[in-house]
Amino acid sequence: MPRLFRRIKEIRGFIRDVKCEGNNVSVGFVPTMGYLHKGHMELIKLSKLQNDITVVSIYVNPLQFGAGEDFDRYPRDLDRDLELCAEAGVDVVFAPSDEEMYQELPITKIEIPGLTDKLEGLYRPGHFNGVAIVVLKLFNIVQPTRAYFGEKDYQQLKVVERLVKDLSIPVEIIPVPTVREEDGLACSSRNVYLSPEERQSALAIYKSFLLAQKLFQGGNTEAALLKQAIREFLLKHPHVSKIDYVEITDENLNPVNEVKEGDRILVAVYVGNTRLIDNWRISHEEV
Ligand code: PAJ
Repeated sequence: MPRLFRRIKEIRGFIRDVKCEGNNVSVGFVPTMGYLHKGHMELIKLSKLQNDITVVSIYVNPLQFGAGEDFDRYPRDLDRDLELCAEAGVDVVFAPSDEEMYQELPITKIEIPGLTDKLEGLYRPGHFNGVAIVVLKLFNIVQPTRAYFGEKDYQQLKVVERLVKDLSIPVEIIPVPTVREEDGLACSSRNVYLSPEERQSALAIYKSFLLAQKLFQGGNTEAALLKQAIREFLLKHPHVSKIDYVEITDENLNPVNEVKEGDRILVAVYVGNTRLIDNWRISHEEV
């Protein structure tokens, strides 16, 4: 079983000791909100490969949820997560309480104009401020050598990369490609909200990426055309009740008119009452 810490002081002490005992001990860090799945496990696997010790945090961060969002019903199962961490050979799990993380609610705001105010930021105001605050706090607590973030949350990855660069935070951010279920649905803790029928319809997201990629490979490089094709395809499916956005950007999240290899499709879609996000790197390769 991994060592479980609930207190900042305790994990700080442990990390300090580990770094004192060994020379140049590398610490890999995988921040999560728990209810671990194959996607999280991939981050953990890579951290295990690249570091001497691996720390996983499990904390459903209230600061990144808006009013009316799913904070209260977000799936939580620490015992199951600890089992999975044990199987994966995780050394340390940090699972603080809200009181421990936010004795007082932070009043500092973190904004990255042009990055936190678009896409997810537009539809979830304050979301990236909450993400940035908790990630920076966790970095200061764990002081990792490397931290692992999934491309599944592509905008989050870009926000964290930029923060680290702008603030000279001494951590290397390692991106990890999106892990999908066998049929193509991106793994997500929120997939448990889907009924079997909704789960079937949710597959339309992945299929819409393949459709757009096929159009691109057939010589259609107009972003507007691809976005329209994606929208129409998605809305054909039952339970796809609302689209927040379908966007095509370059790798730095700037919208493009002409699509080229390496650009990203980003979508946020409601399937029933469940809001799913996903993204896709456009390429000439066969899937
Ligand atoms: P959570 O949604 O639990 O995700 C934790 C990490 O796992 C993130 O870096 C996310 O991008 C990655 N991840 C999730 N699904 C993935 C998949 N299918 N393939 C690859 N990676 C995947 O993202 C958060 O938590 C929070 O915002 C957090 C960063 C922990 C801050 O609270």
